[in-house]
Amino acid sequence: MERISREAPVLIIRHETTRQMPGGGANAVYNLATLGAQVKAVGLVGKDDQGKALRGIFEDAGIDTEGIMVDTQRPTVTKTRISGHARQSVTQQIVRVDRKSDELPDPVIQEQLTDYIRAQIGTVDAVVCSDYGDGVFTGPVIQAVLAHQQTVVDTQKSLGRYRGARLFTPNLPEAERAVGYSIASPQALTAADKDLLALTQAQQILITRGDAGMSLFDPSGREQHIPAFNRTEVFDVTGAGDTVVAALTLGLAAGGSFWEAAVLGNIAASIVVRQFGTATTNPTEVKATLQALLEETGSGRKFL
Ligand SMILES: Nc1ncnc2c1ncn2[C@@H]1O[C@H](COP(=O)(O)OP(=O)(O)OP(=O)(O)O)[C@@H](O)[C@H]1O
Ligand SMILES: [Mg+2]
Repeated sequence: MERISREAPVLIIRHETTRQMPGGGANAVYNLATLGAQVKAVGLVGKDDQGKALRGIFEDAGIDTEGIMVDTQRPTVTKTRISGHARQSVTQQIVRVDRKSDELPDPVIQEQLTDYIRAQIGTVDAVVCSDYGDGVFTGPVIQAVLAHQQTVVDTQKSLGRYRGARLFTPNLPEAERAVGYSIASPQALTAADKDLLALTQAQQILITRGDAGMSLFDPSGREQHIPAFNRTEVFDVTGAGDTVVAALTLGLAAGGSFWEAAVLGNIAASIVVRQFGTATTNPTEVKATLQALLEETGSGRKFL
């Protein structure tokens, strides 16, 4: 029998655990909750284990799930990320497998969603529309959410359907698709800002620009650019836009200006991009990061 020498190559198979975390619109919901908001979640799940798991995660976080309807005709949208990890490198995604329906929900379900929103809209300080294009945002649902003065829209497509909402937060590719041209120069950014404001009739537009930070525009032509606050410890930017929309909506709901709310969103994003997967942050981390920023800029101001 051949003896295995000490130098023989050994294949180590590591058992990796599977982690379930809220994704898509559920990531925005979860971010709002960890930032300290009382959240009423509205949306669709299928009659499956993923739907049950999502409801469980939400309930553990104190999120009201009465507005989450079960649609037996569709699966709970599930994105499976298969990632690899070697000892001396960071975890990296290899492939993502999505399970979802491309059909619109049944009219009865659309009506249930709309009725729930109409009944609750007067009880909340703000509404976040996180539209990943998976069927929840039908015409009647959008009409219902637009009844609120403080509606913030983060949609991958069709910004014009939400005309009249207070603020939109497209990322750069979404903004480019909406205006129909590439935004590769400051001039193009200014033009896109005007076109997006005309399309949406919003009070402000916030374009999130990945490692270039974010830009805020209003109808008077004022542009405010905020750089990314953390560019050196970035591991995974998935879901950073959801964190931005959650933190900035809470900033606005608390009476902050658009600029203050955007800075809050940028700070929260600078924290979650340090973690693998869709991540969240909390008020303690946000305050500490803001304090560190103020000290770094030598403003001499104390925040805490
Ligand atoms: N590579 C990066 N380095 C530093 N900060 C980043 C980076 N990518 C994103 N961010 C921060 O996160 C914010 C939102 O990022 P981005 O524009 O990629 O949103 P998004 O594409 O809508 O994200 P998602 O749809 O995955 O939630 C940026 O404005 C910035 O503050
Ligand atoms: Mg986004």
